[in-house]
Amino acid sequence: MKRFLSFVTALCVAHSINCLGNNLIKPGELWTDNTGVHINAHGGGILYHEGMYYWYGEYKGAYTYRAPGVGWECYRTETGGVSCYSSKDLYNWNFEGVVLQPDTLNPHSDIHPSMVIERPKVIYNDKTRKFVMWMHIDNYNYSKAASGVAVSDSPTGKFTYIGSMRPNGQESRDMTLYKDDDGKAYHIYSSEGNSTLYISLLNDDYLAPSGKYTRNFIGKSREAPAIFKRNGKYYCVTSGCSGWSPNEAEYAIADHITGPWTAIENPCRGKDADKTFYGQSTFVLPVVGKSDCYIMMFDKWNKNHLIDSRYIWLPIQFSGDSITIPWREEWKIPE
Ligand code: DGJ
Repeated sequence: MKRFLSFVTALCVAHSINCLGNNLIKPGELWTDNTGVHINAHGGGILYHEGMYYWYGEYKGAYTYRAPGVGWECYRTETGGVSCYSSKDLYNWNFEGVVLQPDTLNPHSDIHPSMVIERPKVIYNDKTRKFVMWMHIDNYNYSKAASGVAVSDSPTGKFTYIGSMRPNGQESRDMTLYKDDDGKAYHIYSSEGNSTLYISLLNDDYLAPSGKYTRNFIGKSREAPAIFKRNGKYYCVTSGCSGWSPNEAEYAIADHITGPWTAIENPCRGKDADKTFYGQSTFVLPVVGKSDCYIMMFDKWNKNHLIDSRYIWLPIQFSGDSITIPWREEWKIPE
């Protein structure tokens, strides 16, 4: 036992990884789960439910290739479904498995490994008591531009895939969900050739668009939306549109989630802030029970080896209604 523990300690030191018992967040480093494997939950989001955080994300396949015959840098892996990791402290993550399994048998299925599942997000519906997952569904060259929906009775699945649609009859690619304090939920997605961000109210069961939506940042080509609310104001952090390559982030503020939104500036500060520290936004997590504690979650894509993409989590700093996101080599969630 003693020998095993010193082996584990040596491993953690050698790779400076997050291992069990860790209490530091080290942006961009290798983050391992309870089994010692790099966390595979890309383009993810976090649900807090009954004392537990659940991190859902893209479960990337081991092998990255470039889609043949596609002009732009369309790197991808076989779709492995959607993974889930649970944690009480946000430092140590237990692998709960692939909670939305790919359909390996039906080559025409939206969730066949040859398709694309990206940016899955899960919210809980208090009325139906279902966990509802939305995700970007695409084909090998991203021309399908649809959104898929899955449901489960438990946060750790298994989720049942319902199907996909073009919400409000429009293309949808990068996306997120936002559940507001009044129980209303919104689907936020890049549309119209990724040029315009739609904010679409969902039905009461969260399974379909209600038909009420707004068009935002028209013609500005914003991707990777992440939404949060503080002191009655809504914030939307987005990236520009440059495939897997990093670009400059921007945040916007609104009094209503459906807009109008006022674009402010790039919130990132420090080295490589103009490239979002080589990351791209995916989610903002309000830490439960801690006031003004919001974690900005970015993916640091490795386009040549997507499964080895890393995670950059940084605390958001507030000055009045303004935000900044300074780089940190490592940090702790405030006590
Ligand atoms: C940028 C998006 O934000 C990612 O989720 C992914 O779709 C890549 N484009 C694909 O190039």
